[in-house]
Amino acid sequence: MRLAIAIMAAGKGTRLKSKRPKVLHEIGGRPLLAHVIRAAAEIVAPEDIFAIVGHEAERVKAAVAATGVKFVLQAEQRGTGHAIQCARDSVAGYDTLLVLSGDVPLIRPETIARMLDFHFQEQAAMTILTAVPESPLGYGRVIRRIADSPEVTAIVEQKALTPEQEKAPEINSGIYAFATDSLFAHIDELQATNAHGELYLTDMAGLLVANHSRVVAAKAESAIEVLGANTIAEMMDLDAAMRITSAKKLMAAGVTIFRPETVTIDSDVTVGADTVIEPFVQLLGQTKIGEDCRIRSYSVIENATLADEVLVRQGCVITDSTIDVGAMIGPYAHVRPGSELGIGVHVGNFVETKKAKMGAGSKANHLTYLGDAEIGSGTNIGAGTITCNYDGVDKFKTLIGDGVFVGSDSTLVAPIRIGDRSFIGAGSCITEDVPEDALAIGRGRQVTKPEWAKTKSPLCKKKL
Ligand code: UD1
Ligand code: CA
Repeated sequence: MRLAIAIMAAGKGTRLKSKRPKVLHEIGGRPLLAHVIRAAAEIVAPEDIFAIVGHEAERVKAAVAATGVKFVLQAEQRGTGHAIQCARDSVAGYDTLLVLSGDVPLIRPETIARMLDFHFQEQAAMTILTAVPESPLGYGRVIRRIADSPEVTAIVEQKALTPEQEKAPEINSGIYAFATDSLFAHIDELQATNAHGELYLTDMAGLLVANHSRVVAAKAESAIEVLGANTIAEMMDLDAAMRITSAKKLMAAGVTIFRPETVTIDSDVTVGADTVIEPFVQLLGQTKIGEDCRIRSYSVIENATLADEVLVRQGCVITDSTIDVGAMIGPYAHVRPGSELGIGVHVGNFVETKKAKMGAGSKANHLTYLGDAEIGSGTNIGAGTITCNYDGVDKFKTLIGDGVFVGSDSTLVAPIRIGDRSFIGAGSCITEDVPEDALAIGRGRQVTKPEWAKTKSPLCKKKL
């Protein structure tokens, strides 16, 4: 038995009123289509998955090409039935075709597998995955021959419902299994005689029944899983549902999340046990957080890896960086791409790092910019220190050794090398390399004029 999966993703998404193709809108930090492909890839190999693309096809393909799925072009979007007609040649060699919708992203592989089992058990020509959501408004309704029996007589789209059918609570999820031979024996009989003048895949139910084929419905356990996203508001409902589900999964694995409804955690993020996440935190992209960390409120962490026991205080922005065990960051620190903060490093308030390595135990506690810098271990960077890494055209490196003490308000003009255990006097502008164990002072000597204020200050002149 050969099984293919077709994902309908060619539509424009007119109801979104957006320039971006619908299936590339994101929930849980990833495009709708990427979620559907991920579920499909749990069922069959990528080469047996066919994404049907059309509106902005190149953009959609580029966004998911890395998954290895195949693509079918539906150049003109003449409805869901037409989409499957376009896939006919690609899926001809398969016995069974599972159809997924690119805008029904919460579907779980377990549910698909259960539906497929039912499809085979019922020896059906078409099996429709259905659900009974709180509000069925806007969805096609599945009409069963007799209540509670699996047999279906038709799917009726919202606009074609009779007043009596409007009360029908069971919706069509837009997910189907077909015996390919029955499907393609009759798919050309679809007619565009409906409100949108399109070929509806849903009409296959009635068509197959008229041809004495078996059409059945399998009800999903939870309606949330099969909700579609036709408007931005609906999409944000799905986003919230997905995020609360992942937050609950993390909590089940020992993570404490205060006020989980306020945190934004993308679906690929991992967090270790006994880590505490405070309200209004965002953990995005491929972020990985270890055990026993604490992420305080209003921090936004994207594509970063944090080891165990890291403390991120309030209001930090951490992007594409790694932070080692026991480091303390913030409050209000900006850890920019390419930062590698070692074991026990302290990066304090209003400190910005970019492509900066800091060795174990080094500290930059206040008001500092460290860009294109390599700093050894046990080094103290005083308040207000700046690495001058940019001359307006090129970027240069600052190399600071182990056990260095950089006095406050120093500017280190790169390229420059500061040797191990050396001292930089506060307020220095350092333009030449500093050898190991040296003291470097780069500032004007202090001049003190005794009694000066009594006779020379502008205020005295005024009195005279
Ligand atoms: C569809 C179903 C409806 C069901 C609902 C579930 C039809 C006619 N109706 O309605 O019964 O309750 O899904 O969410 O199928 N697409 C193409 N090519 C096209 C048209 C659409 O690939 O020519 C794709 C869209 O990109 C989308 C999916 O098919 O991913 C569904 O299309 P959409 O227009 O959203 O259908 P609904 O009106 O939601
Ligand atoms: Ca839809």
